[in-house]
Amino acid sequence: MYTSPTMTTPAASAQAGTNIAPIEPPEKMQAFDRVIDADGRIEPQDWMPQAYRKTLVRQISQHAHSEIVGMLPEGNWISRAPSLKRKAILLAKVQDEAGHGLYLYSAAETLGVSRDSMLDALHTGRAKYSSIFNYPTLTWADVGVIGWLVDGAAIMNQTPLCRCSYGPYARAMIRVCKEESFHQRQGYESLLVMMKEGTQAQQDMVQDAVNRWWWKCLAMFGPPDSESPNSEQGMRWGIKRISNDDLRQRFVDATIPQAAVLGVSVPDEDLKWNEERGHYDFGPIDWDEFWATVNGNGPCNKERLATRVQAWRDGQWVRDAAMASAQKKREKEQAA
Ligand code: 3HC
Repeated sequence: MYTSPTMTTPAASAQAGTNIAPIEPPEKMQAFDRVIDADGRIEPQDWMPQAYRKTLVRQISQHAHSEIVGMLPEGNWISRAPSLKRKAILLAKVQDEAGHGLYLYSAAETLGVSRDSMLDALHTGRAKYSSIFNYPTLTWADVGVIGWLVDGAAIMNQTPLCRCSYGPYARAMIRVCKEESFHQRQGYESLLVMMKEGTQAQQDMVQDAVNRWWWKCLAMFGPPDSESPNSEQGMRWGIKRISNDDLRQRFVDATIPQAAVLGVSVPDEDLKWNEERGHYDFGPIDWDEFWATVNGNGPCNKERLATRVQAWRDGQWVRDAAMASAQKKREKEQAA
């Protein structure tokens, strides 16, 4: 059994304003557990415990918010890309992120939550989105480093989500991961060109960007397993497949050889191959800085939210026009 029934009902706990988990019907709970035990898929029409639904809404909506807020740091460079080729690649990438946001909002909607309510939570600062998008993109090299490291970390974290127990999320992630691979490759290739063919100033710019983004990318995987309140349950439910710490380690192990090919170093004096463990050891992450950023006090949190809120307001006429058009179509159909 993955959820322990307690002594209340959803209506009673909602009325009392408590967080006590609702009682779930034991036969339904057993059927659900059997699917999870067999590594099967839960689909929107299937019965599922309230806590499972709530966890999915939380994770998928945070993920969707991360994708659309994630368009901002790089979108900032579209008008300043150094060539037509780089501009076209960057445009395609930023549009992909918008698409990812849309698939993910749609996947969350299958759980019975409205897009308006998810966006309202983002716009009022109640919803989380990835810490990584609250840092500034100071130079063109940041765009390459975001592709290589941020999208590289995203692939590491998101590939296991293609096997998530909730069908719509797992299926959305297949396409997202394919597109993230292109994002990672374009970033790495752009850095490779700067490192192998660029001037000393361009090479220094790449190293500076790596220095600023490295630790933020390691923190992006989330708190250490010992301090991750959602991991245990998420893993039992087959939502999360690999723990925050294990993904972080895999990312470091995969990335250090890539850094060597590029000819950059990472800003970690403690980084060392550990023969016994078969992994790189790395230094401590500044979790105070991570939590300050997650809680709204990173360098760009306010700017990012203000930009999203403005974009929502600017798009109001499009939503109004779409609603009016749908209404007209309905009226025509009824009249016919
Ligand atoms: N930024 C902001 N909040 C974070 C975070 C991060 N990097 N890492 C963890 N947190 C939050 C969690 O959301 C959770 O908050 P909540 O309980 O209030 O919702 C809290 O910190 C504790 O963390 P847990 O480890 O217990 O939480 P999870 O088990 O949910 O794990 C996660 C966190 C690994 C981010 C997981 O939710 C996940 O895999 N999510 C899906 C992937 C995702 O959202 N990635 C975001 C980046 S998307 C992206 O990078 C776009 C691409 O185009 C680059």
